[in-house]
Amino acid sequence: MSSLPTFTIGICGFGTVGQGVWKHIERSRATLEARVGAKLVLACAAVRDLKKKRPVKIAASKLTDDPLAIATDPKIDIVCELMGGTGLAREVTLAALSRGAIVISANKALICAHGEEIFATARKHGGHFFFEASVAGGIPLIKALREGLVANRFPLIYGILNGTCNYILTQMEEQDAPYSAVLGDAKRLGYAEADESLDVLGWDTAHKAAVLAFLAHGTWVKPAQMIVEGIDRITPGDFKNAAALGYGIKLLAVITRDFSTGELCVRVHPTLLPESHVVAKVSGVFNAVSVQGDVAGTTLYIGRGAGQDATASAVISDLVDAVSLLKNDRRAFITARKRSAPARPVLACRLAPPEHIRGRYYLRLTVSDEPGVLAQIAAAMAAQHVSIASVIQSAQEPAGAASLVLTTHWSNERALRATLRRLARLRCVLEKPLLLRIGDFSE
Ligand code: NAP
Ligand code: HSE
Repeated sequence: MSSLPTFTIGICGFGTVGQGVWKHIERSRATLEARVGAKLVLACAAVRDLKKKRPVKIAASKLTDDPLAIATDPKIDIVCELMGGTGLAREVTLAALSRGAIVISANKALICAHGEEIFATARKHGGHFFFEASVAGGIPLIKALREGLVANRFPLIYGILNGTCNYILTQMEEQDAPYSAVLGDAKRLGYAEADESLDVLGWDTAHKAAVLAFLAHGTWVKPAQMIVEGIDRITPGDFKNAAALGYGIKLLAVITRDFSTGELCVRVHPTLLPESHVVAKVSGVFNAVSVQGDVAGTTLYIGRGAGQDATASAVISDLVDAVSLLKNDRRAFITARKRSAPARPVLACRLAPPEHIRGRYYLRLTVSDEPGVLAQIAAAMAAQHVSIASVIQSAQEPAGAASLVLTTHWSNERALRATLRRLARLRCVLEKPLLLRIGDFSE
């Protein structure tokens, strides 16, 4: 083993993911080193609180509270940015790339906010940026899109990209519990972001959708340009209504590209999926992503989307690619070169206007239970040419109120937004309506 080249790794962030990476490298060191043909030295890890007790033990001399010192240390070949956030994480990433080092990141928020700058810095200085762990946890989805499916264009990519939300929705459906009661479990299990509102309000899914849209279409779409809705307003009652209609509820990212017009649409919202749909059956922390390629057809990826071990698996796969690159193996060099540059040339994508984003809808309203209310609701919808497909009415607290659940025939986002504005002006509508999309995906 002594003749093997040695590569030195610094880990910025020793929380859920950082400790997972350390633990699994230590556990599988012999196998990994044999596979990669190099010695791996875990040199140091940066944390915020040096005194915190951590399940994975490392020598105190290897811990620092200065991640930038790791990023700028010329002895560190590979820097893993596993802190999260977009401030210090950006500084660390750019500092390491600027000295030509390899950076491995699980930080989708950072890539979404500063991906262009990060890739440009990597290209300028000959550094490399790897990010398999940033989307869909342990599923090698980035590799699948960039390498396995490189021959394809992608008219449709959709799926569950947030393990925390899928865990919460599954528990709500199975235990009839409100989402706030389940969120604590997702945090304890190490699935949630440090700021869990990123998960439940849909932003984490939007960050991942932005990364996938970039890989698939070569253009950055910011969350502000997407429809982004979370799971925070879904109640156990919505699962019962959805089940009565034959659906389950999943938080989905949906990325569509119309190659005849160039229009691209990236959206994130809770979606009613037919109970028989394979993605509707994916439960707990698992993610499921359906990728429609114009050459390969549809491929589907299912696996753990969050948590220590699944995410560490993705980071270590990047580490192995990074080491192969450093050893200057020609095949790996080509692979890694692709990773630092956009997967596809930047195309002139246009974002689809709301009237081109078509679908069917589920609308839940709390209304006063009195004569003529249904007629007022129907009139508000008819004024926007939104046609009602079904109505379920049930009694609701407080006394004198009723819950109305309507589904629509095909309509579009512009018409539904205008309908919601009309409904908000009606005195008989007692609460902000909940609008969910119905997913009409064939596979
Ligand atoms: P975490 O458990 O909160 O760990 C973050 C680590 O970074 C902690 O060790 C923290 O130090 C350290 N840190 C934070 N700010 C710091 C600062 N200013 N200076 C020095 N150290 C700092 O987070 P995580 O769940 O491991 O997630 C890390 C990254 O992976 C995030 O970008 C997240 O989005 C991404 N990710 C997470 C998962 C998952 O399932 N958890 C999956 C995929 C991707 P202390 O320990 O001292 O607080
Ligand atoms: N909080 C994220 C999730 C971590 O639950 O999916 C994985 O990216």
